[in-house]
Amino acid sequence: MKETGKIWMNGKLVPFKNAKVHVLTHALHYSTSIFEGIRCYDTPEGSAIFRLPEHIDRFFNSAKMYSMKMPYSKKKISDGIVSTVNASKLKQCYIRPLAYYGYGTMGLTPTNNKVDVSISCWEWKMGESKAGKFSGAKCKISKWVRIDSKSQPMQAKSAANYSNAALARMEALNAGYDEAIMLNNKGHVAEGSAENIFVVKNGRITTPPLDADILDGITRDSAIKLLKSNKIKVIEKNLRINDLLKADEIFMTGTAAEVKSVTRVNKIKIGDGKIGEVTKELQELFMDTVMGKNKKFRSWLKFI
Ligand SMILES: Cc1ncc(COP(=O)(O)O)c(C=O)c1O
Repeated sequence: MKETGKIWMNGKLVPFKNAKVHVLTHALHYSTSIFEGIRCYDTPEGSAIFRLPEHIDRFFNSAKMYSMKMPYSKKKISDGIVSTVNASKLKQCYIRPLAYYGYGTMGLTPTNNKVDVSISCWEWKMGESKAGKFSGAKCKISKWVRIDSKSQPMQAKSAANYSNAALARMEALNAGYDEAIMLNNKGHVAEGSAENIFVVKNGRITTPPLDADILDGITRDSAIKLLKSNKIKVIEKNLRINDLLKADEIFMTGTAAEVKSVTRVNKIKIGDGKIGEVTKELQELFMDTVMGKNKKFRSWLKFI
């Protein structure tokens, strides 16, 4: 981790090195934290944060699902994000707002502790998560089942959901794959460890519905809207492993991953084993959009 700029902690910008928490912070023990992952792009017209209001809304919704009383308004967090990016002097970065039950009272009940909020950012260049961007990712269907929404709110972007995702990611990497694909409790395809998933078959694009225990991805939403603007409809429908194996193309979407192609599932080649035409078209559309070249979706960018 390159320590650059400052970290916003409870309303103050502190030097990167000094952004510390106590070991008895509640969230460290019980995963009682929620967070966001946001990108700032270096566009020809200056740095721009992608879909900031949508990320802020999801941040607050995640907090609500964990009964967290957010001590700051949406505007304060939004302004905090802009100040943190400006203080970093980075033109393009990944931004991580985090809200967590802090230090004070140990024991399971989180609400006896105050909610602390931090905003960090670090350098993240375009195309940084390479697997799948150009050559196609090899994915393993994980033995770990996505946590059921009846067990915990999977629509919240909470740390508690990510031990499950990290287990799946490690399993895939240890077996020589680039990424995991997780099924839900019903045996339907859910998502990647940190991406949503789409299948293309005979020109039809499908993606698991939000009630398939997936995160309501902001890149997923962007992909659906961008494809629609090109007169390509996306159908939300439960998918099974066979739908993956018989697909002409598979792609994944996420803030870090952007739009990435999946060319193998387990040992099976998807389509002709190369990035498909729909995936390529969407990759270009997405890149044009985050670079401010897509007039129709310029409002998705907050220039700073
Ligand atoms: C489990 C999971 N699904 C999907 C996504 C994609 O969401 P987004 O496009 O909002 O980054 C992420 C990334 O944050 C994720 O962690």
